[in-house]
Amino acid sequence: MARSLSKSTVRVTPARPQSAPSKRNQSRRGRVTKTVPGRKDQGATPPPVVLITGASQGIGSAIARAFAGTIPGVRLALVARQADKLAAVVRACAGQGATARAFVGDVSSEADVTRVAAEVHAVWGAVDVLVNNAGSFRPGRLLETSVADFDAMVAVNLRSVFLVTRAFAPAMVRRGRGDVFNMSSIAGLSAYPSSAGYCAAKFGVTGLSKVMRAEWRDKGIRVCTVYPGATLSPAWEGSGFPEARLMPAEDVARAFVDVYRLTRRTVVEEIVLRPQAGDL
Ligand SMILES: NC(=O)c1ccc[n+]([C@@H]2O[C@H](COP(=O)([O-])OP(=O)(O)OC[C@H]3O[C@@H](n4cnc5c(N)ncnc54)[C@H](OP(=O)(O)O)[C@@H]3O)[C@@H](O)[C@H]2O)c1
Repeated sequence: MARSLSKSTVRVTPARPQSAPSKRNQSRRGRVTKTVPGRKDQGATPPPVVLITGASQGIGSAIARAFAGTIPGVRLALVARQADKLAAVVRACAGQGATARAFVGDVSSEADVTRVAAEVHAVWGAVDVLVNNAGSFRPGRLLETSVADFDAMVAVNLRSVFLVTRAFAPAMVRRGRGDVFNMSSIAGLSAYPSSAGYCAAKFGVTGLSKVMRAEWRDKGIRVCTVYPGATLSPAWEGSGFPEARLMPAEDVARAFVDVYRLTRRTVVEEIVLRPQAGDL
């Protein structure tokens, strides 16, 4: 398995060959012809570039593996802060036939997002699918939430969606095509006492998503807001709830891929997923 390491990116090429070239790309002698960008008659569309934030574990890594296992040759830009965990997800996706790269950065930092966007654009150009998944949860009743904790919840769950979308959506608008998934939560639909900062941030994601949808409906960009209930991930470690009461991250991940694969005449604006036995 060939690997190359730079300051902030890890790339792992697929462990097994990607899907065979389409018949359209092969000459009669079996040679592969070159695809010229922008010339539809010259070859098949290249596999999509899918950027996923918070891909080092939990739901984000499940989304990466779901795309890797479903879309032949998909190119995955995986973003998070922990390089070692991200590298493991890159290897897993490459093992499924994807071309995956890690881009290490903090999505609540404008400087990091600007750097990561430049790195991704330099490697693959515009992204086709942007999954704003990174987030974290700190419990706290309103009057017991410090200003620092409130700001941290807004920064990682909401500011990040604004920063990352602002960095990648202009190329989608220019091309007239793209998909944006924003991770909210059922805490972005209803009040959850003891989750003041998180709830406020996730309601913010709902509002931001609605603005994206309204502004880009005529620009070929589909916007989908995802509202999961309790989903098994490292975020629930030590919570004491039985696994069977939480949704598997793989189920939530599959919804992203299924929605992406609909025809471009259809947008799924919202997905609400809940444990069958109800919310926790
Ligand atoms: N699990 C649930 O029950 C549930 C329910 C509803 C909604 N959600 C939402 O789903 C998303 C994923 O949740 P999860 O349960 O998979 O959480 P998780 O296991 O804690 O994973 C969170 C991911 O976000 C990344 N991340 C956190 N802060 C970041 C930052 N500042 N910059 C870059 N990456 C950052 C983490 O990677 P690094 O630490 O490596 O940066 C990690 O990959 C979150 O937005 C969460 O609010 C989860």
